[in-house]
Amino acid sequence: RRVQLKIITLFPELIRSYLGDALIAKALNKNLLSIELIPLRDFSDNSYKSVDEAPFGGGDGMLIRADILEKALLTILDKAKNQKVIYFTPQGKLFTSAEAQQIAQDQMGADEIILICGRYAGVDQRFIDQYVDEEWSIGDYVLSGGEIPALVVIEAVSRFVPGVLGQLQSAEEDSLQNQLLEAPQYTRPQVWNEQKVPDVLLSGDHKKIKEWKQKMALEVTQKKRPDLLKKRNSET
Ligand code: ADE
Repeated sequence: RRVQLKIITLFPELIRSYLGDALIAKALNKNLLSIELIPLRDFSDNSYKSVDEAPFGGGDGMLIRADILEKALLTILDKAKNQKVIYFTPQGKLFTSAEAQQIAQDQMGADEIILICGRYAGVDQRFIDQYVDEEWSIGDYVLSGGEIPALVVIEAVSRFVPGVLGQLQSAEEDSLQNQLLEAPQYTRPQVWNEQKVPDVLLSGDHKKIKEWKQKMALEVTQKKRPDLLKKRNSET
């Protein structure tokens, strides 16, 4: 099985330029991930290739037209498939490691995920009402478009696709797995500026090392992100 993402965007080249990233390229080359870019401008109905209009009732900025987005979406909608349509907006539900993992596992139960990247001041609400299953945000700040959120999703998901990271373990040991941050890490030289690497890491005792990493993960999380621990305790 593989993760299938289709992305409707005004800046396909922005997204494409990032797909050469080592991790993502590996997922694409191994056919564990497929990404199809649908350039929204191709569906413009005028010679200026514009896709936006001023909002009714006034207000700043331009909105992407519902009819043009629909034309783009209809080229990939398929009644025979269970497709999930996501729109990126700061109004959406926060995209976290848990969602990334769910997409990597079984695409949240869908056959295919369609990501809609907005631009300008947003999109016509009627399009959202008619076609969008879920709205996602990547954080509490306003970006100019959904392309960076789409890249965030691609990269976060790729790390969880089995066979992409070196050791299967790696993504699961990384920060935020189970709402825990990662233990501190050290490499050569063993002593640097009079600072030593913790003895346990040089001991070769794998059980002890594992215990130390777990203990440190808890400590680091308690110190830096106590909110994660609260969330973790309420889940278990
Ligand atoms: N579009 C604009 N800002 C965004 C955000 N923070 N998350 C997702 N999509 C966005």
